[in-house]
Amino acid sequence: MTSPDNVPDLATLRPRLPSPVQEVTDERFTRRGVRLLLKRDDLIHPDLIGNKWRKLAPNLAAAAGRPILTFGGAYSNHLRATAAAGRLLGLPTVGVVRGQELADRPLNPSLARCVADGMRLHFVDRATYRCKGEPEVLASLMHAAGAEGAYVVPEGGSNALAVRGCRALGEELRGHADVVALACGTGGTLAGLAAGLGPGQRALGVPVLKGGFLTDDIRGLQERAFGGRREDWSLDERFHFGGYGRVTPELDAFAADFEGRHGLPVERLYVAKLLYGLVALAEEGAFGAGATVVAVITGAPFAG
Ligand SMILES: Cc1ncc(COP(=O)(O)O)c(C=O)c1O
Repeated sequence: MTSPDNVPDLATLRPRLPSPVQEVTDERFTRRGVRLLLKRDDLIHPDLIGNKWRKLAPNLAAAAGRPILTFGGAYSNHLRATAAAGRLLGLPTVGVVRGQELADRPLNPSLARCVADGMRLHFVDRATYRCKGEPEVLASLMHAAGAEGAYVVPEGGSNALAVRGCRALGEELRGHADVVALACGTGGTLAGLAAGLGPGQRALGVPVLKGGFLTDDIRGLQERAFGGRREDWSLDERFHFGGYGRVTPELDAFAADFEGRHGLPVERLYVAKLLYGLVALAEEGAFGAGATVVAVITGAPFAG
C-alpha cells in the first residue's frame, strides 16, 4: 500500500472523515438546558481509532516507507494503533515498551495484538524509558532495538505533525458547539483541536494523569506545532480518579450506566473520565442554559 515514492497511501484505508456527530438526550444535561453532542472519532477507522488516526496519519506519510519506532506502556492504545497501521500499510514497526520485567512474562492481550500485527517489541527498564527523549539514550535504544534509521514517533504520538493533524478535529466542529471537551494524556489532541476551533468556541481538557504538568506541556506543543499559543482552552484536573490506568468501581459503574443509556461503548481509561467530568460539571451548573457541549469520543474499549 505504498506509492512508487514510498509514501503510504492512507486514502486506501478509507477513514470516515469528518467523523459523525451524534446528539444524545441525557436528562443530566437537558434539565440544565444544555445540549450534549458526541463527536464519534471512535468511528473513523476500526484499527486507527479516534485521535490515533488524526495523529498517526501525518506521521505515516512523513515516514515515507521507513520503519516506525515508537513507545508505550503495556496497555498503550498508541502502540496497538501503530502496529495496526504497520500491518495495513506494510510498514515494519518497533515498539519500545516501558518495563523490562515484562520481557519475561506472557504478553498481555494488548501487547499480543501488537505482535500479531507484526510489531517487534523491545522492553526497557523504567529509568531508561524516562530518559528516552535524550538524544544519546534514544540513539542507544534504537541501536539495541536494531532500528537505526527508523522514523521515531514519540510516546502517545504527540509531535508537531500530530498536533497539526488534530487541528482538523476542531475545524470539523466549527459552528457546532460552545464547548468541546476531551480527555487528555499528553495533551497533543487538545493542543491541535483548540487551534482548529472557531471564534467564541472553547476547548476543555480532562487530564487522566495526576500531576498538574499538562498546561505547560500543551503550551509547548502548540508553540512547536503552530509557532505560538492558542488561548481558548482550559483543563479541569479533578477527574483523573487517582491517575493513569486507575478505574475505580464508581467510574466503572458510571461508564456501564452511560453505555446502557446511550448505547455507546465507553473506553474506561480516557473516555469514561471525560464523560464523568462532563456530568459533574453539568450538575454544578458550569455550562449556561442554551449551551451546546461536544464530548469527543477519542477511543473505544479494547476487546482483547
Ligand atoms: C482513547 C484515548 N483518548 C484520549 C487520549 C489522549 O490523547 P493525548 O495524548 O493527545 O492527550 C488517548 C491517548 O493516546 C487515548 O488513547
